[in-house]
Amino acid sequence: MSDKKAQLTVDGIDGAIEMPVRSGTLGPDVVDVGNLTGKGLFTYDPGFVSTASCESKITFIDGGKGQLLHRGYPIEQLAEKSDYLETCYLLMNGELPDAEQKKKYVDTIMSHTMVHESLVSFFKGFRYDAHPMAMMCGVVGALASFYHDSLDINNPQHREISAHRLIAKMPTLAAMCYKHSQGMPFMYPDNSRSYSENFLHMMFGNPCETSKVDPVVAKAMDIIFLLHADHEQNASTSTVRLAGSSGANPFACISSGIAALWGPAHGGANEAVLNMLQEIGDESRIDEFVKRAKDKNDPFRLMGFGHRVYKNFDPRSRVMQGICDEVLGAMGAENDPLLKIAKKLEKIALEDDYFVEKKLYPNVDFYSGIIMKAIGIPTDMFTVIFATGRTAGWIAHWNEMISNPYKIGRPRQLYTGYTQRDYVPLEQR
Ligand code: SDX
Repeated sequence: MSDKKAQLTVDGIDGAIEMPVRSGTLGPDVVDVGNLTGKGLFTYDPGFVSTASCESKITFIDGGKGQLLHRGYPIEQLAEKSDYLETCYLLMNGELPDAEQKKKYVDTIMSHTMVHESLVSFFKGFRYDAHPMAMMCGVVGALASFYHDSLDINNPQHREISAHRLIAKMPTLAAMCYKHSQGMPFMYPDNSRSYSENFLHMMFGNPCETSKVDPVVAKAMDIIFLLHADHEQNASTSTVRLAGSSGANPFACISSGIAALWGPAHGGANEAVLNMLQEIGDESRIDEFVKRAKDKNDPFRLMGFGHRVYKNFDPRSRVMQGICDEVLGAMGAENDPLLKIAKKLEKIALEDDYFVEKKLYPNVDFYSGIIMKAIGIPTDMFTVIFATGRTAGWIAHWNEMISNPYKIGRPRQLYTGYTQRDYVPLEQR
């Protein structure tokens, strides 16, 4: 604990208010403002631009450097040398597993991939054209109704089995959303396959034939899950933490994270990027859209660009671009018109003063949609893929919070409404 202090003087309040300043292992120091309420003051920070909501050891982002570390390991190294389930283990447990731990963990996860058969009826209740994210919000929250045996959040074993169940079942539920939308039979998991290969099997396989999954595509899918696994205190992870701070069960908390991720400013951006590229339609129209993105009077934003934290390249987008070239090359789609528009758009934006001055770079969502489209995943499933990968981070942050002393999250406000006034009877209004 550092002995640094901050002093605040406020007109109308005698003397300076002293506040402790805490230093982490990396990143900015934080001013502990906990004693301000006692002085009759709140801090005011809409969007939490300058607010550290918690202490965490899971992920560190240096937006200026374009650095992303999971338990200290750079995302580029994990993407190249690790895999999604190993990264799930790392996020949850803080260390990379040894061979025995890894085998045990993978076997455990793969033994929980099936969902209760009653969940089939849940899907049958949705319209055929229900958005998959609407279905996921529902069915993931509903998982709590099947696991009354392990909902004691203060029991570490219950927290662990819930984490295993969520990580294991998200791909199964995601694939069920897709099959429901296609009017096709659900595929049971095939636990002889790897996690990501199994997902693609459940997505694109059918009961009438043995599904063959291209190993290049399976590897790309695994890296896409890995790149989306965690990202510090983003909107959906903060939602999971806030829901968890009330003592809600982990399935309800993850369902709240899915809901928050759905927005186009957050996880819904990958779907919005594809829709934008399709709307641009031709390289000749790129300048028109870049002009709109710069126009203050036009609500249009270049989807897949910009980030609250990264004021340099999002390291994930660079890895994603590499996978994009590899997958589309392997599928003979390197001349995909959307990819050509995306690459031209990126080049133009990165040379444009507006984007340079505002430090708007491609983020994780810019290329991911092009890869997923090439794999055959429909646009409205992109955010479901994001949610599947991010479940690892959500549950790791939830577990980190519940495993340590915590308080229910309850922000205050700057009230600018009416002062007290008396009720006016109807006949006098
Ligand atoms: C994710 O937080 C995370 O870590 C999220 C995420 C994760 O892994 O969890 O990384 C995943 O959500 C990535 C972001 C995906 N969203 C998009 O691609 C949508 C498009 N991007 C923007 O909506 C925006 O950049 C945000 C939401 C990502 C960030 O918004 P901020 O930090 O609140 O920034 P801002 O809106 O205040 O923008 C700063 C300026 C503004 O101009 P001024 O008012 O200062 O003149 O930059 C402009 C904005 O108008 N700007 C853009 C822009 N993004 C910001 N202008 C045009 N196009 C854009 N994309």
